[in-house]
Amino acid sequence: MKEFQEMRASTDLLAGSPLTEPERQFFFIDKCHEIIEEQTRLLGRPLQAAVINFGCQMNARDSEKLRGILMKIGYEITDDESADFVLYNTCTVRDNADQRVYGRLGVQKSMKREHPEKIVGLCGCMMQEQSVIEKIRKSYHFVDIIFGTHNVYKLAELLYAYLTSRSMIIDIWKDTDFSVETLPVDRKYSFKSGVNIMYGCNNFCTYCIVPYVRGRERSREPEEILEECCRLAREGVTEVMLLGQNVNSYGKKLEHSMTFAQLLQEVEKIDGIRRIRFMTSHPKDLSQELIDVMAASKKICHHLHLPLQSGSSRLLKEMNRRYDQERYLDVVRRIREAIPDIALTTDIIVGFPGETEEDFQETMKVVEKVRYSSAFTFIYSPRTGTPAAAMEQVPEELTKERFNRLLKLVQDIAAEECKKMEGQVQEILVETTSNQPDMVSGRLSNNMMVHIPGDESMFGTYVKVRLDEAKGFYYIGSLVD
Ligand code: SAH
Ligand code: SF4
Ligand code: F3S
Repeated sequence: MKEFQEMRASTDLLAGSPLTEPERQFFFIDKCHEIIEEQTRLLGRPLQAAVINFGCQMNARDSEKLRGILMKIGYEITDDESADFVLYNTCTVRDNADQRVYGRLGVQKSMKREHPEKIVGLCGCMMQEQSVIEKIRKSYHFVDIIFGTHNVYKLAELLYAYLTSRSMIIDIWKDTDFSVETLPVDRKYSFKSGVNIMYGCNNFCTYCIVPYVRGRERSREPEEILEECCRLAREGVTEVMLLGQNVNSYGKKLEHSMTFAQLLQEVEKIDGIRRIRFMTSHPKDLSQELIDVMAASKKICHHLHLPLQSGSSRLLKEMNRRYDQERYLDVVRRIREAIPDIALTTDIIVGFPGETEEDFQETMKVVEKVRYSSAFTFIYSPRTGTPAAAMEQVPEELTKERFNRLLKLVQDIAAEECKKMEGQVQEILVETTSNQPDMVSGRLSNNMMVHIPGDESMFGTYVKVRLDEAKGFYYIGSLVD
């Protein structure tokens, strides 16, 4: 991938602006607040901002940070894309993620024609690609603010630069080891939260763009993570999801190195935290120590997302995954032995360059052996600059046909696995309203969804439910006493 030139917006000369963080960002939050307050007064209504995210849990967590800053600035937060400020937090892991963003930009273009004062921003993984920036500069002049994945914390400063210049602001950093974690965050749920434990990725799986757009792997200091978890617990959070592209390699490069399993044991000690989840576990780094800690834990949920990608050892090598089928199945065997009721989920790519019917059959074989509770299946999408994009591609019809066969197998097995728990009484954390009237939805420890009769007053509570009816990948349940 091409070296990406660093671009920085210049608010450096603004008199009185502190040079240290987070003071600098609080200064710009105040500056923006003055302007937004004045606009609110003139308009006679609150200004609204929407942050729309397209990507993974890490992308969603960044969006919560962005909303936190916007709220502090004085915006009312909404999901409505007709808002006064719309910020798209993009993903570029597959081409369809890119296409969705361009589609939304088309809509914004016509909205902006009607309301020229509207602000449109783009940030996140897609913006770390030079070709994207060039395309936006050339064909999407109406975009006002652009930044990447490394400087999310700078939103207030960039917005201020825009509000005072009304010209396109672009600020993309190639990589960083700097982050500001103490800015306001607007959490989607009051009772559960993601917590970043590491950023970036060093694995360079040959199909994947993430290491290029998220930079090198860096772990946060355990004290910082634990402090954040304690603060969340004090604020009423009972479930934390520890986030990283490869949580199993957490802490290896810290000055006082610490394993992921050790970190989990520390999080376990925090009063008020009842459930611990994590994402994502790379099979190559999953240690016996982690399995033992999970088995002994009262709080770590009985769910493991263990991306397979392919069942073919030959393709796994081509993908640079650094495990083979045998090793993957061995990890699965050991984890099931230690935690018999654990639910396993996975990611699988179909149509990786050079995939033959034999390779594909190996994937089907692993799916049959492991029996996942659910699996995200993806059609391989070539990403410019990654090694696999230059390899010989599998014809589209062949990939689609394999994809459909895999999907059917995955769904059939998931439904059978789901059925096995029918009639059991289990605990759920109630999270949201269900799309069925007078029902709410919650998750089991194993991450499966259960819909039960109820209302908003139950959000954030743990309740015992009977799993009355298995519906393939979720349950209809009822409250027990
Ligand atoms: N760090 C995680 C994955 C993050 S990306 C891990 O290693 O497991 C989420 C999923 O997107 C991946 O597991 C993979 O299945 C899929 N993916 C990544 N790049 C892709 C591509 N180029 N085409 C199709 N799917 C891809
Ligand atoms: Fe991508 Fe592989 Fe890193 Fe996951 S581990 S983010 S698939 S490069
Ligand atoms: Fe997408 Fe970036 Fe996540 S590319 S999957 S949002 S790390």
